[in-house]
Amino acid sequence: MQSQDRHRVVAIDGPAASGKSSVARELARRLGFVYVNSGAMYRAVTWHVLQHGVDPADNPRVIQLIESAPITCDLQNNESRILIDDVDPADRLRDDRVNDGVALVSRIPRVREILVEKLRSYVRDRDLVMEGRDIGSVVFPDTPYKFYIDASPEVRRRRRALQGGRDSIASRDRADSSRSASPLVIAKDADFIDTSNLTIAEVIAEIISRLKLKNLRGLA
Ligand code: CDP
Repeated sequence: MQSQDRHRVVAIDGPAASGKSSVARELARRLGFVYVNSGAMYRAVTWHVLQHGVDPADNPRVIQLIESAPITCDLQNNESRILIDDVDPADRLRDDRVNDGVALVSRIPRVREILVEKLRSYVRDRDLVMEGRDIGSVVFPDTPYKFYIDASPEVRRRRRALQGGRDSIASRDRADSSRSASPLVIAKDADFIDTSNLTIAEVIAEIISRLKLKNLRGLA
């Protein structure tokens, strides 16, 4: 199923605003691995759906549109990038309408199937740090390097407010945790880290020390 024989995947899952992106990006840099932000992919296809005036709750039309969309996943500066119709929507991914629509689009099993295949293709010839909701549970269940990072709802609300914009993380978390297709869960073999009282640097140090215990090759 997965071509993970030679290449390593560090999976980082957790709810909205738990600090996943900052931690995963810097961890990838420190390890010399490629950083893959799976949430950006779900956000990009949601942006595409909205650009075409399709209601994110209209499953058949969403599926039809995404199945026929020319989606390219590549790398830029060692980080994942998604192009749709040759357009990189990176600066639109945090728009309010994307925040509001992304949980609807990402609960559709066929959409997940399409994106999971693209996410898995990143490991063919590289080591990865990949962040998301289902990376340790569904996308790369066999990786021994999986982490679930969380923080109290109050801390996460504060972190998201500091980033600006409007984002109802509580309702998105409810939707992500209660959907039937690949819900947000703590994989049974994941290391859990509560980041409420930790800095980004402290979380990274904690993950690196646990990766050493798991004998990740290349760590001093
Ligand atoms: O940055 P934040 O934690 O708020 O969210 P994100 O990682 O950008 O993910 C945005 C949304 O995409 C999530 O709320 C999920 O609905 C969906 N998602 C998913 O279903 N599966 C993933 N592996 C990653 C994101």
